[in-house]
Amino acid sequence: MKILITGASRGVGAQLAILLARDKHRLFLLARNQRALIGVCQTCNAIAGEEVAIPLVFDLKDLLEDECNFLEHLKQYTTSLDVLVNNAGFLMNRDFEKITTSISRSVFDVNYFGPEALIRVCLPMLKASSEASVINITSMGAVQGSVKFPGLSVYSASKGALAILTECLAEELKSDGIRVNALAFGSVQTEMLDEAFPGLKASSTAEEMGSFVKWFVLEGCKRFNGKMLPVSDSTP
Ligand SMILES: NC(=O)c1ccc[n+]([C@@H]2O[C@H](COP(=O)([O-])OP(=O)(O)OC[C@H]3O[C@@H](n4cnc5c(N)ncnc54)[C@H](OP(=O)(O)O)[C@@H]3O)[C@@H](O)[C@H]2O)c1
Repeated sequence: MKILITGASRGVGAQLAILLARDKHRLFLLARNQRALIGVCQTCNAIAGEEVAIPLVFDLKDLLEDECNFLEHLKQYTTSLDVLVNNAGFLMNRDFEKITTSISRSVFDVNYFGPEALIRVCLPMLKASSEASVINITSMGAVQGSVKFPGLSVYSASKGALAILTECLAEELKSDGIRVNALAFGSVQTEMLDEAFPGLKASSTAEEMGSFVKWFVLEGCKRFNGKMLPVSDSTP
């Protein structure tokens, strides 16, 4: 399969890529940190025993400014995509009173507008696949009725926007045979969590969550459309 994963330079995205490389899927890995991203690609290629991973060093915020440039770049490597995993994210833990609209926009740029733009840009390539699927990574904080945490208002709202986009696009893209689902993660032990909540012990490792997402990419997504599935072992 041809799979584009954003946020693949570390955390869950990197683990997902490494796990998919074992089966020699063709991977297009996007993130800003060139060194880290190339390192993940090298690991994937070593595991696969051939060149399966292509690094796409892009900032999702730039993609918003110049969608054509990104598309032209991607077209050098492929004309179709089977799966787009919108995994890149920006977690900001800050009191609502200390957030300005400009800060809020920067969170939405990565967590909502970036994924939205990427889906639009990739649509022609997804339409060229007979088993296309978009998987948006959101958060338990975006699940209605779930426990909420102070400091995560804008982050959770941006993930909530992505969740609603998921539901709407599943309907709109149904006639093109493209499934659109979201996975709402509970806490995962990654650098993102460590930076935002130092000392917090998460219920999953990045590899465990990557393994679940791999299953969803290859199998699980075939049974769902327009759903946001909570991936958490805590209640509510
Ligand atoms: N960890 C958790 O507890 C948790 C809980 C709920 C939901 N999630 C969600 O799960 C997903 C993966 O999280 P994680 O914990 O693995 O995070 P992470 O370790 O911080 O990784 C985030 C990834 O996103 C990339 N990224 C960030 N800003 C970007 C931008 N502007 N353009 C392109 N790439 C960008 C980062 O790469 P570069 O820095 O190289 O760009 C990195 O590869 C995120 O969507 C997150 O919101 C995580």
